[in-house]
Amino acid sequence: MTLANGLAVYPGSFDPIHMGHVDIIERAVQIFPRLVVGVLENIEKNALFSTEERVEMMREQFAGEPAVEVRSFSGLLVNFLKELDATVIIRGMRAVSDFEYEFQMALMNRRLYPHAETVFLTPKEEYTYLSSRLVKEVVALGGDVTGLVPEAVAARLHARYRKATHPPTR
Ligand code: PNS
Repeated sequence: MTLANGLAVYPGSFDPIHMGHVDIIERAVQIFPRLVVGVLENIEKNALFSTEERVEMMREQFAGEPAVEVRSFSGLLVNFLKELDATVIIRGMRAVSDFEYEFQMALMNRRLYPHAETVFLTPKEEYTYLSSRLVKEVVALGGDVTGLVPEAVAARLHARYRKATHPPTR
């Protein structure tokens, strides 16, 4: 097996996708002819969006990009790689603060599957402070996330938090 079978996997929680993720995906497909985006199935009850919703948002965003395939996965990432016959993992590295977690994951994945190789890509500077957690917090508190998430994602976020703050009356 070679590293260069043209396939890379970009795993994440994507709860929800933001422009930093979009930017990393657009960069990855400049390098790899095929990219599978692996959406981690909900293991925590506190995810805002279900696995199906997160996959759907990602598919909507990349509907016009044939190099991108969106799938969900559960269990170990390395098993998902093996299932796909892939060895390359794409991860975004925003700042030094990401380094320790990413370094540990890269080495653990390689320990579990010696063929696994993690490739780090850096997003545009304007997205380096972005995280799904912050995006959710800003929307929940009534802030504006225009330009930070795809429009369809912003609409879903607003709808979700509206529902949470104004439960339907009987
Ligand atoms: O977007 P995130 O939450 O930073 O992504 C983390 C993710 C999904 C890449 C990581 O949690 C993962 O790979 N989970 C699958 C379980 C696994 O393989 N754990 C060991 C990784 S070292």
